[in-house]
Amino acid sequence: MSMEMKIVVKIGGTLLESSADRQRLVAEIAAQWRSHHQVLVVHGGGKQLTQYLDQAGIASRFVDGLRVTTLEAIDGVLKVFTGSINHQLLAVFHQAEVPAVGLSGIDSGSLVAQKFVGPHGQDWGFVGQITAADPHLWEVLLKERFVPLVASVAVGDDGQIYNINADQAAVACAASLRADSLVFLTDVDGVRDLSGQILPRISVEQIPALLDSGAVSGGMLAKLRAVREAIEHGVGRVCIANGHRPGSLAAALAFTGASIETFMGTIITSAHAPAQRSS
Ligand SMILES: Nc1ncnc2c1ncn2[C@@H]1O[C@H](COP(=O)(O)OP(=O)(O)OP(=O)(O)O)[C@@H](O)[C@H]1O
Ligand SMILES: [Mg+2]
Repeated sequence: MSMEMKIVVKIGGTLLESSADRQRLVAEIAAQWRSHHQVLVVHGGGKQLTQYLDQAGIASRFVDGLRVTTLEAIDGVLKVFTGSINHQLLAVFHQAEVPAVGLSGIDSGSLVAQKFVGPHGQDWGFVGQITAADPHLWEVLLKERFVPLVASVAVGDDGQIYNINADQAAVACAASLRADSLVFLTDVDGVRDLSGQILPRISVEQIPALLDSGAVSGGMLAKLRAVREAIEHGVGRVCIANGHRPGSLAAALAFTGASIETFMGTIITSAHAPAQRSS
């Protein structure tokens, strides 16, 4: 890849469970950074939070794939997302000789949210919906060759801290930065249709029908909704790939969706603009 790109990588929670996975993913991100790309990383940590809350005797409850977040759960969100997960990753970046900086959406008010209320009046407590993203701090860091590592929490204009779905946080980062590429590294090979086949390429216009088909559930529902927003906000290319497969990040960045013979993944394009090669 010759041109320098702005890349946003979202790392799914199951990819952060083992130290071997963390080291491999950080090495893949480091390789992109060493190729002179600007890289910002977003992470959540739902599974780790569930474990933490279990130990504290707090049960986890989900409505439509989103965690119901009480005030005491918010404290857990901060401890787990912005605390242990973020800093475990920072330490691995240091080991890989990459200057990563641990942040959350609260730093410099970069991710502002308000309470999210579902279309049917569903209440998730302190789960937020991002209303504004200010990329200034990230841009300053990226320009100076730091790698911002953003935990998915946001702040309200009233000072309330909100838990944010990490896919939505990644989209807000990518859209506000006008990123060339947004890669979701997750624990499956891409988006499956009703017959269970991985779809190598879907256009954003196909997403509503895909959701209606009933093929998509759980976390992938939230991810596809977020993807749709990313494309609509002008993110150049969006790819969903399996972070458990070695080399997935570089492959996802080069993937055109033409064939899944060499790479499994789903690229999401706008029907108006065919997916471009990123090289
Ligand atoms: N049609 C589908 N194609 C692919 N995966 C699907 C589909 N429908 C549901 N899923 C589920 O979505 C999951 C991915 O979303 P999930 O939220 O669990 O991961 P993530 O977003 O990468 O991680 P995290 O939420 O911790 O950040 C898959 O593991 C799979 O079980
Ligand atoms: Mg998810």
